Amino acid sequence: MKSTPIILMLTTTLVASQAFAQAAVPNPAEQGRDLYETNCLTCHGPDMINPGTVSYDLRKFPADAKARFVNSVVNGKGQGMPAWRGVVTPPEVDQLWAYVLTRGKL
Ligand code: HEC
Repeated sequence: MKSTPIILMLTTTLVASQAFAQAAVPNPAEQGRDLYETNCLTCHGPDMINPGTVSYDLRKFPADAKARFVNSVVNGKGQGMPAWRGVVTPPEVDQLWAYVLTRGKL
């Protein structure tokens, strides 16, 4: 088995470069969490945990209702939920959505 060290070396290089690639490409849910902490946490609570009485409990937001999420975030809702149009960009709304789908477990 003379070739074993070479294979090991190649494998190590491959694993290392994959780890680097993962670190270099930002995770949308992590970006969403940062946006959440800046803009939403005050009302919706840390890790999306709040009493769910006045501010909507985002951990329970239906996972198949992305269009409703985008609409409520961009245009606001009711008396208490501000409109975020012009504050967060459409790609950032996608990142917030990716974070909401983690249910605060990120
Ligand atoms: C000033 C307090 C406040 C802030 C800040 C806030 N929200 Fe809300 N949010 C509310 C309240 C209150 C409701 C409940 C509105 C209603 O149903 O009348 C709500 C509801 C929602 C809903 C549910 C809407 C629906 O379709 O039922 C979503 C989604 C949401 N917020 C996302 C966000 C996101 C994302 C952010 C940050 C960009 C954010 N909110 C920031 C107060 C806030």
